[in-house]
Amino acid sequence: MAQVFLFDHPLIQHKISILRDKNTSTKEFRELVHELSMLMAYEVTRDLPLTEVTIETPVATTKAKVLAGKKIALVPILRAGLGMVDGMLSIVPNAKVGHIGLYRDPNTLKPVEYYCKLPEDITEREVVVLDPMLATGGSSSAAITFLKDRGIKNIKFVCLISAPEGIERLQKEHPDVPIFCAAKDEKLNDHAYIIPGLGDAGDRLFGTN
Ligand code: PRP
Ligand code: URA
Repeated sequence: MAQVFLFDHPLIQHKISILRDKNTSTKEFRELVHELSMLMAYEVTRDLPLTEVTIETPVATTKAKVLAGKKIALVPILRAGLGMVDGMLSIVPNAKVGHIGLYRDPNTLKPVEYYCKLPEDITEREVVVLDPMLATGGSSSAAITFLKDRGIKNIKFVCLISAPEGIERLQKEHPDVPIFCAAKDEKLNDHAYIIPGLGDAGDRLFGTN
């Protein structure tokens, strides 16, 4: 079963609480998503392999550890996943970025794909799928299936707020994909919105409604 990494760091919890507040402005919301993504990138990259090199400090020669250069690709699910890209890139600046466009049909609640552009060498990379919201899990599961159909094996999923229903679905449909989330909420409402959640992440990030 897929591992779930739930972040209990006080800075993350504090920022998530401000993000949820309906009085938080679009500007502040954007900044918070950026900061949260940066903080989460630290944990998401914990298993990056290291290699040893010899370096010279001003006073001695020593062996030191550096990143082995494992290649990463970030794949935000449009639209709301876009808000998480820059924060992640500030920690892994050499990552390539692919995009998958999916929206949730408001009537069927099923994901509809409308865009896909991925780096050519994506199958050689560890892929980090980004979406602030994991509600029914329909969008993220479809995006991950889509990536696997293109031969991608090494995938992680990172979200800010999750519902138990979404976690359960991802674990069932993609048991090999670890899930990183800043908060696990109570439930979904009748419109499959996360309760208490933060509302519509795309709208809050881009100032639409
Ligand atoms: C939101 C969110 C996820 C999806 C989560 O996107 O960003 O992609 O809903 O719901 P699910 O787990 O039930 O699939 P939305 O469909 O609202 O599109 P948008 O980002 O373009 O606003
Ligand atoms: N998508 C959102 O943006 N918010 C939710 O609560 C559920 C799906």
